[in-house]
Amino acid sequence: MKKVILDVDTGIDDALAIAYALQSPEIELLGITTGYGNVSAEEATRNTKQILALLQSPELKVFQGAEHPFKQSDTRHRAYEVHGDNGLGNAEFPDVNDVIETEHAVDFIISMVKAFPNEVTLITVATQTNVALALEKEPSLVKEIDRIVMMGGAVTVPGNVTPYAEANFFGDADSAHYVLQSGVPVTLIGLDVTMQTLLKRDELQVWEHSGTKAGQLFAQMCHFYMDFYEKENPQLGGCALHDPLAVGVAIDQSFVQTEKMNVIVEREGERRGQSVGEQAPSGIDVALRVDRERFTQHFLERVQKGLFA
Ligand code: BDR
Ligand code: CA
Repeated sequence: MKKVILDVDTGIDDALAIAYALQSPEIELLGITTGYGNVSAEEATRNTKQILALLQSPELKVFQGAEHPFKQSDTRHRAYEVHGDNGLGNAEFPDVNDVIETEHAVDFIISMVKAFPNEVTLITVATQTNVALALEKEPSLVKEIDRIVMMGGAVTVPGNVTPYAEANFFGDADSAHYVLQSGVPVTLIGLDVTMQTLLKRDELQVWEHSGTKAGQLFAQMCHFYMDFYEKENPQLGGCALHDPLAVGVAIDQSFVQTEKMNVIVEREGERRGQSVGEQAPSGIDVALRVDRERFTQHFLERVQKGLFA
């Protein structure tokens, strides 16, 4: 079992990633850390707790983190149009208590990596701000984080926020660059592969008709996400499983094929957030191909186990 911290900005595909991780015995979730991105950090924390409560894991701890980018004080990018006004496709998830952990996400990451050196995998599916702040505060973590499986970037394909930038990198280009250049081993799961892993409308009908509250709410949430994708990318025929693919690769790295690259992230001008990769023997592992059928099946089987319980 791998010790894992999942860093999220919950968000619809973040919610799917949480559901997948909860049903994966290969993963021991130490805790979930949140930050701004799709929604505010506060909303991401609330949404995460609602998902955990619905999926019968209310005991899992959620640590709230950064509300602003690493080197800038504004929060430029939110994605309510993709994820709904509440970040969960406007589906009405049951309320949860608003008591949150007092420890900051950054300190939680540091304390867990220190407690279990070279054993903790970080799955980061939001901006890289929490991790960048942790590395800046405690530089020795560079040698003690086992690996980061990072959803972000678009090395060989166009971006999804601008023609150049993917949302998690656009949201905080400085932190993405800092973490990718830090020396921590990274597997990068960008739009290069996530735009090929799709959830289809038919699956939602199965969830909808499951008769469970979780199945119905998840279907409603994903219909919203799918409507957005149909408008923006009608040729795709589904919505992208960005964040779940990072969880999948942390479980089984053979879902993707990678190449070693040095990746820099543009921090200025119209190309801000663009990830630029160049082959390099000691670089990070950039996913360029994905076994989409095998991954999607794995994801669906596990998520359905949680939704239909
Ligand atoms: C990424 O951006 C967010 O909107 C999604 O949750 C995902 O992490 C995709 O570009
Ligand atoms: Ca996300």
